[in-house]
Amino acid sequence: MTNDPSSFPSDFVWGAATASYQIEGAAHEDGRGESVWDRFCATPGKVRGGDTGEVACDFYHRYPDDVRLMKELGLDAFRFSIAWPRVFPEGRGTVNEKGLDFYDRLVDELLGAGIEPFATLFHWDTPQALEDAGGWPARETAEAFAEYAEVVAARLGDRVRHWITHNEPWVYAWIGHAWGLHAPGRTNEADAVAVAHHLLLSHGWAVEAIRRASPDARVGITLNLAQFYPATDTPEDEAAAYHRDGQDNRWFLDPIFRGSYPADLLERNELVGPHVRDGDLEAASVPLDFLGINNYSRFIVAAGADGPKTVGNPDAQHTDMGWEVYPDGLHDVLVRVARDYEPAAIYITENGAAFPDVRVHDGAVHDVERTAYLESYIGAVGRAIAGGAPVKGYFVWSLLDNFEWAFGYSKRFGIVYVDFPTLGRVPKDSFYWYRDLLASRRSAPRPPSPIAAA
Ligand code: FCB
Repeated sequence: MTNDPSSFPSDFVWGAATASYQIEGAAHEDGRGESVWDRFCATPGKVRGGDTGEVACDFYHRYPDDVRLMKELGLDAFRFSIAWPRVFPEGRGTVNEKGLDFYDRLVDELLGAGIEPFATLFHWDTPQALEDAGGWPARETAEAFAEYAEVVAARLGDRVRHWITHNEPWVYAWIGHAWGLHAPGRTNEADAVAVAHHLLLSHGWAVEAIRRASPDARVGITLNLAQFYPATDTPEDEAAAYHRDGQDNRWFLDPIFRGSYPADLLERNELVGPHVRDGDLEAASVPLDFLGINNYSRFIVAAGADGPKTVGNPDAQHTDMGWEVYPDGLHDVLVRVARDYEPAAIYITENGAAFPDVRVHDGAVHDVERTAYLESYIGAVGRAIAGGAPVKGYFVWSLLDNFEWAFGYSKRFGIVYVDFPTLGRVPKDSFYWYRDLLASRRSAPRPPSPIAAA
């Protein structure tokens, strides 16, 4: 396995990632307002088994124990998200101080354990009040987001140095608004296009707001990026793969790094233009300290009669999500993004795998496949760094088994098993593997890194 310590810079950040709705629970506590995910879960037929995030991992109450686990793991950093409806139960207007108090306590607990907080402002739990007032298809929601960003940064910015504005805007826009498979469950492509634009715009505004409140903050955005490979080298399949790359990757990368939408996309999609006002793309392309990349798999694309279609690779290993295990895809996307967009720094803000874990008679979880997955993907990160990609850190998704959106609790991504009936935590074998990897990096001799020195 290509897991050569020398390819990782000495200041490389090893972390684990989570998101508010997926772990916190305490849905009605301390003045938290309703989010679109509460509403979606309460709508029959939307989430497998009728599961909800009402209790989730009960992280809201158990965070001190979980931070102890993180310390045992040897994490440098922990990525979590802030639940907007805890801070603004009605979306705008009155700040709920008790909601902010929770993140205050969490940040202090992390810092006390020597763990750097990486805070994401939006991981899909829009206040329902804002959804009712028009949601992300409306420009006012972007304004509300910038207000929220400023309030949170003013409260936590003396201790939180790393901020992520949005998590995976493509997923929130398309899966939530065109396909209806995530909250808020809309099924209208025009809405999805408007949402994508307003997420990009509000990202730019939020970066400015965070920097106003906390001038030393390092700010970025997290995109879900995957490579699209043509099924064959015919021009038709190449074009199909480029088309899908445009829809999923360049739609966000170009505005953020180039201040423009890709021309081929504008030609194809007449829905984009009407939302763009003067100055929007300047706002969206504010220089960033880093780009966050979430990557799990890759796509193979062929030209079809009704447009590009994704084709499977039956010979490959797949995770419990049906996602192909393809570590080279992470390598390729890192090298390509570094070459084409030259981000100042990249963090892998999510990477991991769901497998149907079972606890055996001794109570342990021998998750051999997840461990192999992590080892191969981390190896791919090392190769990408050696190839010149400025990757500064890696966050495994996820610390804990949690609420996997429309799949409810049926998909386990954690390196810590959660026994949902009792909420007990059981570190899996992958937890111990990751702990040993982190410990070995710390004790390994550190060659000077060209990236760290740059
Ligand atoms: C990503 C999400 C994260 C988690 C993983 C499996 O798309 O950002 O919340 O659900 O997928």
